[in-house]
Amino acid sequence: MPPRDIIIDTDPGQDDAAAILLALGSPDEINVLGITAVAGNVPLALTQKNARIVCELAGKTNVPVFAGCDAPLVRKLVTAEHVHGKTGLDGPALPDPDMPLQDQHGVDFIIETLRARPAETVTLCPLGPLTNIATALQRAPDIAERIQEIVLMGGAYFEVGNITPAAEFNIYVDPEAADIVFKSGVNTTIMPLDVTHKVLVTLKRIDALRAQATPVCDAMADMVDFFERFDTDKYGSDGAPLHDPCVTAYLIKPELFSGRFINVEIETLSELTLGMTVADWWGVTDRAPNAMFMGDVDAQGFFDLLTERLARL
Ligand code: RIB
Ligand code: CA
Repeated sequence: MPPRDIIIDTDPGQDDAAAILLALGSPDEINVLGITAVAGNVPLALTQKNARIVCELAGKTNVPVFAGCDAPLVRKLVTAEHVHGKTGLDGPALPDPDMPLQDQHGVDFIIETLRARPAETVTLCPLGPLTNIATALQRAPDIAERIQEIVLMGGAYFEVGNITPAAEFNIYVDPEAADIVFKSGVNTTIMPLDVTHKVLVTLKRIDALRAQATPVCDAMADMVDFFERFDTDKYGSDGAPLHDPCVTAYLIKPELFSGRFINVEIETLSELTLGMTVADWWGVTDRAPNAMFMGDVDAQGFFDLLTERLARL
């Protein structure tokens, strides 16, 4: 089976870094056509820089990195320095990138790539707010039927919210963008907090990373050491959820995950529940299913895969 062609849309973010490294460490299964940065965890100037830092850490400076949208479609940007630190990639001391940022806008790269390649051969992997994806769909509606699949990290049902009591961060930052993506009709798979809160980076799992004794695994362990303090304080858990690599792990070993094909809609009006993913998990409405909403994961299988692949870089 040839590797799957993907575009990673991201707001690094330590967990975004893990997702990108997992993809770059799995060339037999994944071919990263490009990385488009979006404003989210930190402003765009930092997310585009961090994406290049991660590519250089992986020794994959041939992967083109593009800057996308610097603000949500209609709302003011909300960031998460309280979780990711002021650089967005706090933890390890990593050098500023030498590799260039591409001149082309990330949204134009997404549109051009989908139009240039055979239909249904490119998967989009959004790991942050959906601003770039929604803008591409608005600017070029013809690309919707050309997308093989959208596999995204975002939303929540049983776990409800992490940035508000009702909403998960990626959806909350740009709910109008999420609404456009979820109504696009594109084959969509969702990795919500219901799954990502089951992949906790315990001390044992950090030790397993450090035991690889490679620069990439050491840097990842340092990132997680920083990233986890917020969640362990908040949830009292014995580790932080590693959200975004659930997306790239799914592309490599889908059997690690299970879920339901259900209707998921986005709250865009109520200030109280803005950005909530209203997931009809129990099928209590006649709304047409539009997404594969993941609910469970083999957590140890996930970490074994992550550690093994990062050790290859
Ligand atoms: O809610 C978790 C998501 O928000 C992750 O993608 C994290 O990187 C932040 O973007
Ligand atoms: Ca992210």
